[in-house]
Amino acid sequence: MEPTNIGALGPSAFARIMGGIREKQRQGVTAGPVDDAPTPDEPGHPEYHRRNRAEWNLVRWQTATPPRYRRSDATHPTVQQWADDVAADPTTAGSLLLTGTTGTGKTYEAYGALHRIAAAGSTHPYEIRALTAADMNGLLRVNGSPRGVEEELRRLCRIPLLLLDDLGSAKATEWTEETTYRLINERYNACRPTIYTSNLPAKSADGRDLTAALGDRIVSRLSEDTHVIAMTGPDRRRGVA
Ligand SMILES: Nc1ncnc2c1ncn2[C@@H]1O[C@H](COP(=O)(O)OP(=O)(O)OP(=O)(O)O)[C@@H](O)[C@H]1O
Ligand SMILES: [Mg+2]
Repeated sequence: MEPTNIGALGPSAFARIMGGIREKQRQGVTAGPVDDAPTPDEPGHPEYHRRNRAEWNLVRWQTATPPRYRRSDATHPTVQQWADDVAADPTTAGSLLLTGTTGTGKTYEAYGALHRIAAAGSTHPYEIRALTAADMNGLLRVNGSPRGVEEELRRLCRIPLLLLDDLGSAKATEWTEETTYRLINERYNACRPTIYTSNLPAKSADGRDLTAALGDRIVSRLSEDTHVIAMTGPDRRRGVA
């Protein structure tokens, strides 16, 4: 049925319509959107769209996650909180650094954080990249990638969420130090969240720490808005029979 153009109605037609509305109101019948509002299972409801986004994100997460870590869940309360903050607003959440000795669950927790962000289904783009620092160094070597160093670096800088695993464990050269600095500095400037894991502590009295491995310029940037979590406990791998 064509909608009625109220302005085009004559006075008697207008009075008839208004009379009808008043009569309905008198009978307690009110027109309203309540009955027509979509349920969470229907398009138009925010929850329906959030679930859809979460579903897509989880497919992306699965694709980016190695099989060993596809059951990962964030278990540490600070990691959970950080993941929730990223889902709410990635530009203010800061970054995350998980430190600890081998097998304490840093990589598991890192993929778990990415999992939790995916499942939140927020409106922020869920585009992730996960790689080890050693792989990154390989990629950013001259001839390390057909795309070329600058293009690879640009992609790593721009990806909304990056996991850089095992930071500081690969042998650093002047070149890898410089490219790591450029990556961390650009992500820091753009307020893009990054998850780092490292076997090295952020600071240690014996000098075997991230500052020695990465240089002071990088650690200074990390210390401003990076949540540092020291993972403790035995090597979980050795607990497996
Ligand atoms: N909370 C957890 N629940 C179940 N399994 C876990 C948990 N944390 C870690 N694991 C398992 O323990 C093993 C070691 O964990 P992970 O690889 O995360 O350690 P890591 O700290 O990254 O070690 P490394 O320093 O050698 O890289 C993996 O098989 C992982 O799936
Ligand atoms: Mg690891």
